[in-house]
Amino acid sequence: MSEKKQQVSRRQFLNYTLTGVGGFMAAGMLAPMVRFAIDPVLQASAIGDMKAVVEVSEITTEPQRFDWTIEQVDAWYTSEVTKSAWVYKDDNDNIVALSPVCKHLGCQVNWAGDDAHPDQFYCPCHDGRYYKDGMNVPDTPPNAGLDIYEHEVRDGTLFLGNAMPREEV
Ligand code: FES
Repeated sequence: MSEKKQQVSRRQFLNYTLTGVGGFMAAGMLAPMVRFAIDPVLQASAIGDMKAVVEVSEITTEPQRFDWTIEQVDAWYTSEVTKSAWVYKDDNDNIVALSPVCKHLGCQVNWAGDDAHPDQFYCPCHDGRYYKDGMNVPDTPPNAGLDIYEHEVRDGTLFLGNAMPREEV
């Protein structure tokens, strides 16, 4: 009698099997979705660290472009990303670090790239222009100023973090 109780019926066996297989498949589908949902959070911490870019003594009142690389981790894939900034000292000796990415459609801006406006940033894609402080020149395609890098000086070295829209700085 007790032996009979321990037997698993065909119906029970099918239930256990289907539940197990179904659970396994559901976990397989949910894992990438969860990973995708939290990925921006993980990425932000990976690229949020500040990087040493240049000795402060090298920074002049004329904007100069500096490049550096960061390691970007995306799930299991790690890649090196090159970042750039236009850096100068303003009239009050404050360091300004501007993103070179045009706010119109994302081309790269150059300092004094237009002979007619040697004291401005110039975007060659659609003749976009920015003043030295990064604000967009009215009546040119960009409708916002260049993003500004968060920065810090440690032991005579300039460290840059993320470029932020002006309204968030
Ligand atoms: S992308 Fe810079 S002006 Fe259009």
